[in-house]
Amino acid sequence: MSGNYYPALKQISKVSNSAFGLRKIGNSIAKSAAKTVHGQGCRILFLNPLKRYLVTVGAYGLSDLFLRKGPLDARKSLPDILDGRIVYIADIADIAVTHGIQYPEEDRDQGISSILGVPITKNGEVVGEIRIYTREPQEFSESDRSFLLSVADICALLFEKMELYRLLEKGYKSDKERIEPQVPQLPTSALRPTNFAHPSEGEFAKLLDFYRIEWLYEPRAFPLRWGKNGVAEMFTPDFYLSEMDLYVELTTLKQSLITEKNRKVRRLRELYPGINIKLLNKNDYTRLLAKYGYGFAGEAKTEGVEHVLYSHTQIQRRVRVLAKRISQDYAGEKLVLVGILKGVVCFMSDLMQNLSLPVIPDFMAISRYGSDAHVVQITKDLDSTITGQHVLMVEDIVDTGMTLNYVLKYISARNPASLRVCTFLDKRVRRLVDVPLDYVGFEITDEFIVGYGLDRGGEYRNLPFIGVLHQELMKEGAK
Ligand code: PRP
Repeated sequence: MSGNYYPALKQISKVSNSAFGLRKIGNSIAKSAAKTVHGQGCRILFLNPLKRYLVTVGAYGLSDLFLRKGPLDARKSLPDILDGRIVYIADIADIAVTHGIQYPEEDRDQGISSILGVPITKNGEVVGEIRIYTREPQEFSESDRSFLLSVADICALLFEKMELYRLLEKGYKSDKERIEPQVPQLPTSALRPTNFAHPSEGEFAKLLDFYRIEWLYEPRAFPLRWGKNGVAEMFTPDFYLSEMDLYVELTTLKQSLITEKNRKVRRLRELYPGINIKLLNKNDYTRLLAKYGYGFAGEAKTEGVEHVLYSHTQIQRRVRVLAKRISQDYAGEKLVLVGILKGVVCFMSDLMQNLSLPVIPDFMAISRYGSDAHVVQITKDLDSTITGQHVLMVEDIVDTGMTLNYVLKYISARNPASLRVCTFLDKRVRRLVDVPLDYVGFEITDEFIVGYGLDRGGEYRNLPFIGVLHQELMKEGAK
């Protein structure tokens, strides 16, 4: 059975090059692809920026309940396709092969028998996939498969176009200026729906992006009531926050809607006791996120911060790892911790509370470049005697390395038993003087960051997270 490949490819290329939105283009491609290879349904999926979930960008011939059967986990749902292989499942009823199918029951309910999955590859990297579904077991010819690979190539161009839009949205930087990021890009924003059902959802999505919290929009529809002809009532919560395994439904201030939503949430909890769901109004957002360890995004505190680089939870987790390592390395010893004021205060405080050793914290202060002093001077010396002691220098950030280089020489001259360095952040790309770092929290790129002790003009030190400043403020100088 051979398909009418050429007219289909012509149609697919044309629609891909149109001014339609991504979803409309995706649906149209899915329809052409399914019909050409005689499938009953098709789904086009792109990996989200953190590469953990597959998000539908186009579908044909599949019910809403099927499309929203739950978040499609890239590691659980036909993972071989993401390894770059074409996957063919002749009969999903065959239990032996269902181990690679995340929702076999839903597939059967939809009446699906065979699935053919083809990877979408961009620059040698899999960025998504096309899945064709059939009701009866069906073989696909070699021509069908190579046709779908060509469709996948067109989808890869769409993916590129979508990424370009995102860059334009964020302010394009030339390749020369661009530094390879070591932190994840903004979460799912690249796959945000073009139109949210309500403006408050767009606002909530922005807040989640600010905190770099991965979100999926309406990935699951929960049947709440069944009638003679199947599902009679469904509830699709607005967001799924994977890190917290939490579904979120937003409410507006309309009391009638709140009552209705409360009823649905209650019913959902009864029917699906394992599901974590919250009904939130605008005032609840920030409180919820603060509770989950993202700090309180009070407007006065975060004005000027573009997004969170490391949340309070991530910081605490990393500090505990560093403290464990240090405690093991110095087991049985007493340790003098030396911090250089003022940026180090938050890190020093958290670190010493997590060390399982006797420690003596001490602080120094030095004159900084740009102050009245012409040469660097110690403006506050250590209170303790460090000769013959094990000393660990603690820094919030090492940038050019000049501060540390100076202080290390000063401390070495006092003959400690040993001298090592622990810095929470390492901005290696800006290094001018090579300094030995024994314990590093995170290596970061050349962004202007504030919070967790780091300041800009004396402000922002008390933010419970590390944030990146807006570009305009960067020019005025900060770490
Ligand atoms: C920061 C930080 C380090 C120093 C590192 O201090 O606390 O001590 O910069 O930079 P370098 O590697 O380029 O020498 P800052 O000058 O911001 O003063 P502060 O600690 O009082 O904020």
